[in-house]
Amino acid sequence: MAAEVDDRSIRYQIIPEEAISPQLDRQLVAYLSEIFPEWRDVFAKRRAWHDAPPVWTTLATEKSPKDKSALPAIVGHVGVVERTISTCWNWRYRVASFQGVSVAPAFRRLGIGRKLLDLSLREAKRRNYPFAILFCKEPMVPYYTSLGWRLPEDSMIMWRDRKLPIPMRSNCPMYRQLEDLTFPEGPIDVHNPLPPK
Ligand SMILES: CC(C)(COP(=O)(O)OP(=O)(O)OC[C@H]1O[C@@H](n2cnc3c(N)ncnc32)[C@H](O)[C@@H]1OP(=O)(O)O)[C@@H](O)C(=O)NCCC(=O)NCCS
Repeated sequence: MAAEVDDRSIRYQIIPEEAISPQLDRQLVAYLSEIFPEWRDVFAKRRAWHDAPPVWTTLATEKSPKDKSALPAIVGHVGVVERTISTCWNWRYRVASFQGVSVAPAFRRLGIGRKLLDLSLREAKRRNYPFAILFCKEPMVPYYTSLGWRLPEDSMIMWRDRKLPIPMRSNCPMYRQLEDLTFPEGPIDVHNPLPPK
């Protein structure tokens, strides 16, 4: 059942990882395991994607929980992890990598996903990331394209410890430009944060 939602009933927050309480962490793990069952084993150990916890989480919650003693229900989520992208031309950039983009089923198609992505992009810009990236399933490409995301010209491969390519089950890379800087050309490698050159 879809719910009527406007900004008066949903609270949007940017929460730095260090401000996530153990109680909220448990709630996030339960929410994400429900929405992304394929990630359940990973979340059972740690709320991280490919060994990287988010730098911050953009969260939508219900404003007026029925149970006042519980945390407000999570309605939508974007976790933002820092990664480095590099190219064979020796370019290297820190990027904001969006993970776990989701809205709870009863709240979809109400603009919450768009708002969460907008807020996350604004925060990434504020933190001086030149680009945002994400990997999505192929059927989601039109969704992100309609919100201004672009497919890179060439391949984008995620690496573990700079040695092992990580097979991406959902493997369409997309990006957003946040500064007046062209997205690098050629094949792109994605790593957990590397030191600046
Ligand atoms: C994808 C998802 C986050 C979208 O959230 P949402 O709050 O329903 O999206 P919005 O209401 O902000 O949609 C914005 C626009 O995209 C369109 N849209 C929404 N979901 C879409 C989809 N799955 N495919 C294509 N377009 C879609 C909407 O119609 C809307 O356009 P409109 O304003 O012209 O009507 C949500 O459906 C979800 O959680 N899906 C399951 C998890 C998932 O697959 N996440 C993506 C991982 S990469």
